[in-house]
Amino acid sequence: MGEIMNKLYAGAALMTAFVLPAYSADKVDLARAEEIVSGRCFLCHGLEGEAASAVFPRLAGQHWEYTAKQLAEFKSGKRKSETMLPQVEELTPAEMKALGHYFENKQVPGREIKDAELVAVGKFVFHRGNQFTGLPSCASCHGVKGHGTPQLPRLAGQHPRYTEDQIKQFNKRERTNDNAVMHTVASKLSELETHAVAAYIATLD
Ligand code: HEC
Ligand code: HEC
Repeated sequence: MGEIMNKLYAGAALMTAFVLPAYSADKVDLARAEEIVSGRCFLCHGLEGEAASAVFPRLAGQHWEYTAKQLAEFKSGKRKSETMLPQVEELTPAEMKALGHYFENKQVPGREIKDAELVAVGKFVFHRGNQFTGLPSCASCHGVKGHGTPQLPRLAGQHPRYTEDQIKQFNKRERTNDNAVMHTVASKLSELETHAVAAYIATLD
């Protein structure tokens, strides 16, 4: 357990060192971001990043650095997605940064999930992990409220289906960018734990 955590933290720390500076130079043009979002992103992610349909991820409140990085990696093909590739092909780094800020500024509250017992299991997994299988707590990296950091994505309020889908992708390494840390986590999650933790995450503001 201790050893796994050390490896995971080392992985996360490494990412911190390399990921950030590339986007910092350009200034933020929020009007341009709004133009792009109301032109096409809103169709799937909503104008407020609320993603009314559970098929599409919520973007509201996400750290701009993470959003800009994902957009750059969809474009380079490092993160493979047939849906997102055509959306980002024409975007410049400055537009990616502006889009990141646009969505970071939005706030969408968590949702009520009816199955209280499932949410309770998810709450345990999120905050405590599973000491019997060596699963680290999600809170240890993503924060006790799931708000994340510029390097560790915000999870709070995300649609369960997207969270479950990403965990499956990490497990099979179908999520092709930076999957080392989350692959290890995902490989330790049972089916029940995956559904439960995704349900709990959805309730977080
Ligand atoms: C046709 C629907 C659709 C449109 C339009 C669309 N997206 Fe997406 N977006 C998706 C889907 C589906 C995913 C999940 C991709 C995956 O994991 O394969 C996604 C993922 C993302 C992610 C990664 C989220 C995360 O938590 O890692 C970001 C950021 C994003 N989209 C931003 C945008 C922006 C900005 C636009 C407009 C330029 C846009 N999207 C337009 C469907 C769409
Ligand atoms: C050791 C640190 C660490 C732990 C523990 C951890 N994560 Fe992560 N997680 C990460 C990192 C780093 C990323 C970003 C991967 C990337 O940059 O592509 C991530 C990404 C994710 C994503 C993708 C978010 C998105 O918007 O696409 C989900 C979902 C996720 N983690 C869920 C969880 C859950 C659930 C747990 C607990 C069972 C957990 N994580 C535990 C480090 C961690």
